[in-house]
Amino acid sequence: MPHSKVVTTERLWWKECNVYQIYPASFLDTNGDGIGDLRGIIEKLDYLQELGVYKSPQVDMGYDISDYKDIDPIYGTLKDADDLIAELGKRDMKLMMDLVVNHTSDQHPWFLESRSSRENPKRDWYFWKKGRVDEKGNQLPPTNWSRTLDTSKSAWEWDEKTGEYYLSIFSAGQPDLNWENTDVREAVHDIIRFWLDRGVRGYRMDVIDHISKDQSFQDAEQKIPGQYCQPGEAFFANGPRLTEYLQEIRKVLNEYDTITVGEMPFINDEDEIIRTVGLQGPLNMVFLFQLLNVDNQPGRTKWSYSEWDATDMKRIHERTQRLMIDRDGWNAIFCENHDSPRSLTRFGDDSDEWRDYAAKMLCTKHCTLGGTSYIYQGQELGMRNLPAHWQPSEYKDVESQSYWKFASAEFVNKHRKIEYARKMMELKARDHTRSPMQWDASPNAGFCKAGVQPWMRVNDDYPRINVRDQSESDHSVLAHWKNCLKLRSANKDVFIYGGFEILDPNNRDVVAYTRFSKHETWVTVTNFTGKHLLYSGIGDIEVEWVLGNYPLNVHKRGESLNLRPWEGIIGNEVIPN
Ligand code: GLC
Repeated sequence: MPHSKVVTTERLWWKECNVYQIYPASFLDTNGDGIGDLRGIIEKLDYLQELGVYKSPQVDMGYDISDYKDIDPIYGTLKDADDLIAELGKRDMKLMMDLVVNHTSDQHPWFLESRSSRENPKRDWYFWKKGRVDEKGNQLPPTNWSRTLDTSKSAWEWDEKTGEYYLSIFSAGQPDLNWENTDVREAVHDIIRFWLDRGVRGYRMDVIDHISKDQSFQDAEQKIPGQYCQPGEAFFANGPRLTEYLQEIRKVLNEYDTITVGEMPFINDEDEIIRTVGLQGPLNMVFLFQLLNVDNQPGRTKWSYSEWDATDMKRIHERTQRLMIDRDGWNAIFCENHDSPRSLTRFGDDSDEWRDYAAKMLCTKHCTLGGTSYIYQGQELGMRNLPAHWQPSEYKDVESQSYWKFASAEFVNKHRKIEYARKMMELKARDHTRSPMQWDASPNAGFCKAGVQPWMRVNDDYPRINVRDQSESDHSVLAHWKNCLKLRSANKDVFIYGGFEILDPNNRDVVAYTRFSKHETWVTVTNFTGKHLLYSGIGDIEVEWVLGNYPLNVHKRGESLNLRPWEGIIGNEVIPN
């Protein structure tokens, strides 16, 4: 095999750990209110330990925080958080928290002060601006930027009392903090220290590419026809002071031993990525979204669909894997989170016939890519999107509800558009990954007691897809995850630190690549179709298959592979004597 560069990066714990992302509201309810809580997480730590992961709860469901130094009572108390950290410690696990500091809640005392008068000392902690007036005398917001969670609306909210608009990119309840103000940055540093001093070992930094904004506040380019509000990320994300702000945070983090991942939806430029996660970069790694956006129509919002195939997926992996190897950065590997639909439905086949195979195939790919691995709760079971027949009222997310309201109002009697909107919700809504975790086949899937109304409806398939069932079988999706994670940990030089080379880039059905260290080469082959294929992309080498989702075939040098539907296999190159 021609070997390109093998990673020479330093071996560090945060590169080798497996992160498990918990959405606390839907994990486990222990106090009978139908909403998951911290005690529920503590109760399931052994389950996570067995899976072989560290964990990462988010402690705020709404991403609109009104007190950064306390736990929302619906989830528990500060003591519960301390207990959680202690219980994790006993199992050699660590807690990574969400840090949501691009914006606060509109109920946060800082914002309440800020909006109380134009003269208030905290006025400048947020972005307050006067409106504009058009030629017809209509009042307009300061810029034409749209709201992320409700793209038909303006990102600026009018405040009657003080006669100005405030910037709130996500929703009116989430005003953006003004990071240009040094006091704001110091207040954030103080929050970062607060949780690290309590024993938290790292942060997922929510929309951290939004914290520096272009201060010229210009109108965004007209991209979406027929509406005033336009996506403004060219101005409100990746601003000129982003690296400076992140380096300030890095100085604080350097007092501790942490893991950090930046959620950066709008970072794409390679130099910018390396500036952020390269050797001198302020963050350990970032979530890059090219894979999760693969089925969006270019230039449209997420509520759109375009066909994709294995060549798109290979292009995306090739670029990020190679970038980090060639320029000493570090990847975060993920294909599902609380803002996405279920990966099985989206990238595989969730039918009863094939779901098991497809979920294992996706796991095979996930576990053999380089970087730190992030698993989202339920992914290890092959949980699926919500059933297509559910009414939109079952979708609880503010983003889905705003979209549905908009689609229903705008397109009244326009049947096809409504149908399209429904289809998009079925495919793309964030609700699909937010339904309660499926622990067993008892009522409410064991997420909360029978008779309690869970905050969100449990997916109807829980009697067939749940932890209890899968724990009892050596052939379940869960068992496959455990095996693949074990293989990954046992071969760190290859799967975590090794080189990467894509195979057969133009094949539209199969994603295959090699991973290698100085001493050995491994091959991953994943069939992204429900068809039998004859695959010749691995070339003139002999591979001994080690782990797969079917009984393993024997492969001889120079032979093509018979790939079965949704097959995913990992093997070791046999070196000729
Ligand atoms: C991030 C979160 C998402 C939230 C948004 C605003 O994208 O992951 O859930 O709605 O930021 O905080």
